[in-house]
Amino acid sequence: MSELTRGELLNEGKAKKIYATSDADKVIFYFKDDATAFNAQKKGSINSKGILNNRISARFFKLLKEKDISSHYLETLSDREMLVRKVEIIPCETVVRNIVTGSLAKRLGRPDGEEISRPLVEFYYKDDALGDPLITDDHAVVFGWATQEELDELRRQALAVNDVLRPFMLERGIILVDFKLEFGRTSDGTILLADEICPDTCRFWDAKTRKKLDKDRFRQDLGEVEDAYHEIAERVGAE
Ligand code: TMP
Repeated sequence: MSELTRGELLNEGKAKKIYATSDADKVIFYFKDDATAFNAQKKGSINSKGILNNRISARFFKLLKEKDISSHYLETLSDREMLVRKVEIIPCETVVRNIVTGSLAKRLGRPDGEEISRPLVEFYYKDDALGDPLITDDHAVVFGWATQEELDELRRQALAVNDVLRPFMLERGIILVDFKLEFGRTSDGTILLADEICPDTCRFWDAKTRKKLDKDRFRQDLGEVEDAYHEIAERVGAE
C-alpha cells in the first residue's frame, strides 16, 4: 500500500466518504460517526461508530474470504480507512431475513420476532429520494438495474453470506436477525460483495436476552448505542 496515495473525494454518503487513489481500480472508504435513520429524517452521531464499523466490516470480510466468498475488501489502512476494490454498485440492495421484524413485520402485518422456515431474500431499489422501495426481480430487469442472471447471483451470494455469518454469530451468543448487502460489478463485470457489514446494516439480537445490539438502538432511541457497537466488535473479535 505504501506507494498508494489518497486522491480526490469521489462520493460522500450518510456513513462513509469514498476517496480515489493513485490506482484507478482501488478506492478508500473513510468511516464516519454520522448516523441517520428513516431516510435521513433522523440524524445524529454515534461516538466511535466509524472506527468500530471499519473493524467489524474488515473482520466479516476476512471471515467470508476464508470461506471462499470474495468481496471488495483489500486492506485496513487506519482506524477509519479501508482500501477496497472499486466497483460499480448495482442499485439493488439485497436484504436477507432469518426472523421477521422491521419493515417486513410492518408491511405484511406479521408478529415481530416470528420464526420463518427458511431465509427470505428481498431486493430494494437504492434511491434515497424514493426511500429505497421494495422491488421484484422484474422491476430490476425491466428498468435495467440488473439482469436476471445478476439477481440470481446476488441471491446465491447473499444466502452464502448468511450461511457463514449466522452460525459464526450464534457461536458468539448473537442471533443474526437480518442484514442488508450491496454488490458491485468489477471492471470485467464480475459480481463482487461490497459496501460494509456492521451493526448499521445488520440486526443482531443477544441470543439469551434478545437485547438489540445494532443500529435499532439509535433508530428507536433505546440508549446504550455505542455500547452495543462495542459489544459486537468484542464478540466477533474485532477490537
Ligand atoms: P428493514 O427491516 O428496515 O427493511 O431493514 C432490513 C435490514 O436492512 C436491517 O438489517 C437493517 C438494514 N438496513 C440498512 O442497512 N439500511 C437501511 O437503510 C435500512 C432501512 C435497513
